[in-house]
Order: sequence, then C-alpha cells, then structure tokens
Amino acid sequence: MAEKQILCVGLVVLDIINVVDRYPEEDTDRRCLSQRWQRGGNASNSCTVLSLLGAPCAFMGSLAPGHVADFLVADFGRRGVDVSQVAWQSTGETPCSCCIVNSANGSRTILLFDTNLPDVSAEDFEKVDLSRFKWIHIEGRNASEQVKMLQRIEEHNSRQPLGQRIQMSVEVEKPREELFQLFGYGDVVFVSKDVARHLGFQAAADALRGLYGRVRKGAWLVCAWAEEGADALGPDGRLLHSDAFPPPRLVDTLGAGDTFNAAVIFSLSQGQKMQEALRFGCQVAGRKCGLQGFDGIV
Ligand code: ADP
Ligand code: FRU
Repeated sequence: MAEKQILCVGLVVLDIINVVDRYPEEDTDRRCLSQRWQRGGNASNSCTVLSLLGAPCAFMGSLAPGHVADFLVADFGRRGVDVSQVAWQSTGETPCSCCIVNSANGSRTILLFDTNLPDVSAEDFEKVDLSRFKWIHIEGRNASEQVKMLQRIEEHNSRQPLGQRIQMSVEVEKPREELFQLFGYGDVVFVSKDVARHLGFQAAADALRGLYGRVRKGAWLVCAWAEEGADALGPDGRLLHSDAFPPPRLVDTLGAGDTFNAAVIFSLSQGQKMQEALRFGCQVAGRKCGLQGFDGIV
C-alpha cells in the first residue's frame, strides 16, 4: 500500500510578486528588481514545503477552470503535490494576489482578491476517501463548513484502532470571529500573531495561556511570532519555546508562517515531540526568509 498522505485543505491563489529594493510611494512610477508568478495560498504553500521535505501530500481547495488554474495545477505537479481532491467550481474566478516583497528587509505586502469563488464545502469533503490520509490540516476559511469536515474526521477516527487514526490540525490565521469556533477542533491548533494581537495579547506565551481554554482536551496550541520564534502549550500545561533562526539576510518573508506550519506538521507526523517540531519549524521557516520563494529550504 502507498504511504499515506498529508492533506492540506484551504486556499490556492496566484501570487504576482514584485520584488523591490524599497517600498514604493503611492502614485509613483518605478521599476522593480524582478517579477514572478508563484503559486500561493496558505494551504497550497504548506503543500509546497511538505513536498520539499519529502512528505507525500495532497491539496484540497477550489479552482475555476482557466489560464490561472492551468498555471497553478502545473506548479502543483512540478512539486509532486496530488491535486485529485481539488473542487472545480463552475462560478467565480481563481483568486490572485498582488504581492510586494521588499528585498531590503524581507517584508511582504499582500493585496488579495479572494471574494467570489465558492469554498470547498462539507459536501465536497464527504467524497474524500479518508483512509488515504495520515494527517489532515485545515486552513480556517468557511469555518461552519469546516467544522462539519472536522467532525467527519473525528467520527472516522472513532471507528479506527489507535495507530490508524488521522491526526488533525487547524490554522486560525485571520482575525475573523467566525474562525474562532475552529479552536475547539484538532490535535494541533496554529494561531497567528495577528489573531493573538486582535484578541489583546502582546506575546506568544500570553496568547497561548489566554487561549488554551478554547482548544479541545489533549490538544496543542501553537503560536509563531516572527523573529521571536514560536511557542506551544499542551495538555501538561508546560510552555515550550523555540527561538527563531534568522537567516544571514532577510529577503522574503512571504509564506514564512505556512512554511513553519508545514515543518511542524512534518516533524510531528514523523513521530517527533513538540519541542523538536517547534525547533524544526523555526529552522525551516528561518531558511525560507533568507530566500526568494521556497527553493533551497532543504
Ligand atoms: P507569517 O507572518 O507568514 O504568518 P510568522 O511571523 O508567524 O509568519 O513567522 C513564522 C515563523 O517564521 C516564525 O516562527 C519564525 O521562525 C520565522 N520568521 C518569520 N519572520 C522572521 C524573521 N524576521 N526572522 C527570523 N525568523 C522569522
Ligand atoms: C502567504 C499567502 C500568500 C497569499 C496570501 C493569502 O501566507 O498564502 O501566498 O497571497 O497569503 O492570504
């Protein structure tokens, strides 16, 4: 039997990336250093990194047929990511992002058009053969539907012997109230510093202590905080921390969080402990910040 895959459910977009040496002023006309098309979206970026790390993985998200989708599907193929779970939509457009990466400090500014393509529904997810996956990661988007997906996995797990259960992770990245119901699902919950700040926390450790009550019994809550590294809190109440691994020069932080999530999931799915997974997540994400794009992270 083929090795079980890691499935990431969420967004794929076309990132049109403009690399600049300083951030442009409004209503000016300047040249950028370079321009490229890159497959983006949190779940999609995490698939790229999982594949580069050597994990068999699959992406599930929505696409509308057309030139943009052709580029994105070809790029998934180039990375060896399985797209057989993609939900092809008959209405709406495949989303695009205009990204400005400032190579002087690595900052990324994103302008995303993500409005009219229907998200993957619980009904789409019903068709997924869960026995193919050892881990399912869900990027929080249409949360009420995603809760049904997570409940389906829980139900599936309740019929499996311990060793056969699918591990589940959830990302709560956008500060949107609807997404907060997702805290209550999954073995691992990734909460972003954006959400943490929105909820009034100024550091990862405070956010974890303040939000741990929202996760289900036995789960891990993980929070990455840029150059501060990342923290995790689990059922034993001990706070874990890894420092960041800053690259020699910060050139491109686009997708750093997605890289961190993928590397943590990879490490845990290989049986590593959370402390090791945090460290590995920060190492791989740190390498990514020193490179344009994802090539060279391993
Ligand atoms: P994002 O803004 O993409 O969500 P985060 O800020 O949460 O990403 O960072 C994810 C991880 O990437 C951090 O835990 C850290 O390991 C690494 N990272 C991000 N920015 C930096 C930085 N400026 N220096 C070093 N590491 C960084
Ligand atoms: C990076 C990213 C980009 C995309 C945007 C969507 O984390 O996934 O690739 O344009 O965020 O919010």
